[in-house]
Amino acid sequence: MRQIVRQPVADMRVAVIGAGVIGLSTAQSIYEQHHSALRPLSIHVYADCFTPLTTSDGAAGLWQPYLYDKGNVQETKWNKETFDYLLSALRSPESVQMGVFLQSGYNLCTERVPDPSFKDIVLGFRQLTERELQLFPGYNYGWFNTALMVEGKLYLPWLMDWLQRRGVKFHHRKISSFKELAETGADVIINCSGMRSGALQPDPELKPGRGQIIKVDAPWLKHWIITHNSSTGVYNSPYIIPGSRLVTVGGIFQIGNWSEQNSYTDHKRIWEDACQLEPSLKQAAVVQDWSGLRPVRSKVRLEWETLQAGATTMEVIHNYGHGGFGLTIHRGCAQEAARLFGQIVEQRGIKARL
Ligand code: FAD
Ligand code: BEZ
Repeated sequence: MRQIVRQPVADMRVAVIGAGVIGLSTAQSIYEQHHSALRPLSIHVYADCFTPLTTSDGAAGLWQPYLYDKGNVQETKWNKETFDYLLSALRSPESVQMGVFLQSGYNLCTERVPDPSFKDIVLGFRQLTERELQLFPGYNYGWFNTALMVEGKLYLPWLMDWLQRRGVKFHHRKISSFKELAETGADVIINCSGMRSGALQPDPELKPGRGQIIKVDAPWLKHWIITHNSSTGVYNSPYIIPGSRLVTVGGIFQIGNWSEQNSYTDHKRIWEDACQLEPSLKQAAVVQDWSGLRPVRSKVRLEWETLQAGATTMEVIHNYGHGGFGLTIHRGCAQEAARLFGQIVEQRGIKARL
């Protein structure tokens, strides 16, 4: 009988641009779905900022999408996939290292509004009672639910460690073009460069949504409080989100503002509004001010594109534009990017057999 001996094929080289939550989780999903001894992957992550210096590190880390998906049901599906993935992680002792834990809180509105797209994803969603609303003067409608926290400052080091233990290589380097990576021998490029994607390929749809927050020491606060005001827009009214060590106080959302400097005017506004919402904050010690840019788009760009630069053909998967919900949606997007990667592998296999 003839024996079939399977020869290991040459490593396929994958270059991921970006080491925020999107880049690292996409590298993880690609490894999980496609690495095997017979078809090994050589995965390289390139970034000019690593944890704790990315936008994903500064974010509060609350799982909560924007209130309405405006018909973009695909993003709602990816949000749910992420919620379910993180919820299942709670069953592991590693959830502590991952920075994942349950946290309940209030969404407050100034008027009656339709239920949000996440009402069937979170746990224990319900409308606020009159007695609860009396706790928050100025707000007359809202919901209570239990959601999840996934804190970037813990989750990113956990992801890097997970990847490092599986042979993924990290390169501290700024990338100027996709071609530069193709010249290192990359077979597939995964673009997870967040707010700076436009420098690699112009994207008029991508805009900065500047945010500024204050981290305070207030261990007595146990619930998050997010206010919604239709006249100020998303996350541009006060919020208070207790984390594992510090409480994040926001919020600012300035479309088109590229400044990553802390602004005194914004600090003052955040602090005064938050103290009105939660007067006990006046007893809290301020630990840090931080500003970051949300990569705002009408929808996440998650697609595969074949690019040509001279004689070089490049397979690029884009995964960026996650606005103020990158931690909320990351796993669903990572899994989808890994499925697109599978299509490239399959196409290459077909071409090789022809
Ligand atoms: P980033 O974290 O910015 O990572 C981008 C990576 O790409 C970095 O490693 C960078 O160095 C690299 N890079 C870019 N260009 C290049 C290049 N040319 N060469 C090499 N490397 C490059 N989301 C939530 O879900 N929950 C929250 O509670 C939450 N709170 C937030 C609060 C604030 C104030 C802000 C500003 C955002 C918040 N967000 C929140 C949104 C969240 O932070 C973002 O959606 C998320 O961080 C985007 O992740 P990313 O990996 O795409 O980008
Ligand atoms: C923000 O982008 O500021 C934000 C996102 C999710 C929850 C809270 C705040």
